[in-house]
Amino acid sequence: MNRKYRHTVIAANWKMNLLPSKVKAYADELKPLTAQAKWCDIVVCPPFVMLPAVIKAFRSSRISTGAQNLSDKESGAFTGEVSASQLADLGVHYVIIGHSERRRLYGETDSAVNGKIHAALRENLRPIVCVGESEQERETGVTAELVSLQVKTALRDVPAQKMRRIIIAYEPIWAIGTGKTATSEDAGAVCGTIRSVVRSLYGARTARAVSILYGGSMNARNACELLSQPDIDGGLIGGASLSPVDFAAIVDAANQ
Ligand code: PGA
Repeated sequence: MNRKYRHTVIAANWKMNLLPSKVKAYADELKPLTAQAKWCDIVVCPPFVMLPAVIKAFRSSRISTGAQNLSDKESGAFTGEVSASQLADLGVHYVIIGHSERRRLYGETDSAVNGKIHAALRENLRPIVCVGESEQERETGVTAELVSLQVKTALRDVPAQKMRRIIIAYEPIWAIGTGKTATSEDAGAVCGTIRSVVRSLYGARTARAVSILYGGSMNARNACELLSQPDIDGGLIGGASLSPVDFAAIVDAANQ
């Protein structure tokens, strides 16, 4: 982390877990546990149907709400889709874009990810853009090239003044939900590569200011070490975010 230049962000990705009726209890437990975390931006990203409940439950707190996906279209006949303006109107501030589960299971391409980033930015939502390699790609030694390509394609035509709203999450696919974590050195090195791609596109000042998160089996035990890497500015947390106590422990680590 480097708090002098950028925000520390800890974001919960609930994926398709938990229930609308359980949101209030979750929030009531999390809020007091994170009340002192003034050095860390905290975001909770529930499934679409729980967004109103999450917004309401965290209204009087420092915890922001994010969606897990959005449409690249503005409005119209797109059954089952949710637009950026609908999210913004509800009071959502962040949106995860290009999660590996969306890419792998629902065929989301790099260029679809780029379209979604533009849609989010039009409504002033803050995209949390996910990139990362598979196990095979890591073994083949193409991680840096692949992640650089994902970042460059995702950011195509994003103007410099909007770049500061974007958060990038490096999530090695083989580490997601598996209990296997990248070593802090490896994760830090890829986050450094991502920062140098941003530098090559937008210059040193913007690169220094962009928050880059790590995601993939991050938990209370490994958070401190991962966050000690200078280029890792926070985490995108799946499994460990389902328990307020476990999630708050990661927030604590990020707030040190
Ligand atoms: P995990 O998920 O923490 O359960 O590995 C992270 C993510 O997919 O964002």
